[in-house]
Amino acid sequence: MDLTNRDSFGSKFGVIAAAAGSAIGLGNIWRFPYVLGANGGGAFLLIYLIFVVVIGIPVMMSEFVIGRSAQRNPYGAFRILAPGRPWYLVGIMGVAAAFMILAFYAAVAGWTMEYLYQSVVNGFSGKSAEEMSTMFDTFRSGSARPVIWFLVFMVMTSCIVMAGIQKGIEKYTKVLMPVLLLLLIALSIRSLTLPGAGEGLVFLFKPDFSKITGKVVLEALGQAFFSLSIGMGTLITYGSYIQKKERLGNTAVSVSLTDTFIAVLAGVAIFPAVFAFSIDPASGEDLVFKTLPVIFQQMPGGYFFSLIFFLLLAVAALTSTISVLEVVVANFTEEFQFGRRKATVLAALAISVLGIFASGSWSWFKELDIFGFSVFELLDHTSANYMLPLGGFFIVVFVGWFMGKPKVSGELSSNGMFPVRYYPLFLFIVRFIAPIAIALVFLNSLGLF
Ligand code: PHE
Repeated sequence: MDLTNRDSFGSKFGVIAAAAGSAIGLGNIWRFPYVLGANGGGAFLLIYLIFVVVIGIPVMMSEFVIGRSAQRNPYGAFRILAPGRPWYLVGIMGVAAAFMILAFYAAVAGWTMEYLYQSVVNGFSGKSAEEMSTMFDTFRSGSARPVIWFLVFMVMTSCIVMAGIQKGIEKYTKVLMPVLLLLLIALSIRSLTLPGAGEGLVFLFKPDFSKITGKVVLEALGQAFFSLSIGMGTLITYGSYIQKKERLGNTAVSVSLTDTFIAVLAGVAIFPAVFAFSIDPASGEDLVFKTLPVIFQQMPGGYFFSLIFFLLLAVAALTSTISVLEVVVANFTEEFQFGRRKATVLAALAISVLGIFASGSWSWFKELDIFGFSVFELLDHTSANYMLPLGGFFIVVFVGWFMGKPKVSGELSSNGMFPVRYYPLFLFIVRFIAPIAIALVFLNSLGLF
């Protein structure tokens, strides 16, 4: 393959916007509040923040290092950097994780499409918190609607991925992310000024250490990986499109901090309202859909806020789904020499089959029970809590122990163009701290100590 023709991101802001576009999405606004709510609140947040800094940022840097140095999809990258060694299995696990994540993620993105539609037709108008909750349950368990919206979303994702990196991905993320941020701030203000809001803040920010269990720690780790888009090679793939003159360390830090800020902000928007409207914070993956419309009801101009919000949430989801699909497509085009169009169609079709099961988990496939989980739950939990951290483990071990110092520091410093005074610290973390921490979390969740 001719590497000189490889697509690349156009500018520094473009790189950050695309990587942040991948990181910021339903993971921040839908998954973070639901997992935090189900895992006791403040203590979860504290562990989550520690994991972002100690494990998340180093894994993200490592993915960028691998991707940009190999100029390949995750599977191909490991084959090139470690020929004849089984490291490529990490790439294969990444592709498998991409299949699983896209299948349930696009299902949730489909729910946001329904809520965008409901915003347009003013479907939330005059409904109480309880009616809003019934409305969501009815939608999700009722008919073919969730599946149709899921498929619509898959088609949109595929069209953008087909268009290629610069024309497709970069263009959309650059403009829309900042607007989403402003809307979240407006939502937070409304939520914080509701009567009884304080309780939500206490829940979110005051750690109750008695709530920390092996499961809570594992879920915090999984959420950190999921939210930062790390552990499956998304950022290896994006790293391969970053130009040599960009600083990988700075990019990883900016992206991680922005992502974390947005997640916490989503928490500030949601939990005060959850408590003000007496919604159960541990209610699960429907939390945000049952809470947000109630907040909009209480806002002057709520109709427009809700309209713009669900539109932007759908866009934020889209900039994430394209990054997930891109992992599979880059793999198909580079390893099997498929054209971009063919690769995209094949990948999207295969994922859609799995996704129909995921989005039908409350209707057609309600009875389907796999080790006590629905298809949706199984895909969500296995990918985030196990596959991504496991992938991350191997990624840091690879960079720390196998890639070799000249390659790693050469990549981080753009071959000496920038000073990398943090290099010894980085090396220490990727060699010892991050892998040991991940291993301990796994052992702990198995109840081994
Ligand atoms: N990080 C994305 C989000 O928070 C989801 C995602 C996970 C994207 C894994 C790519 C890889 O919405």
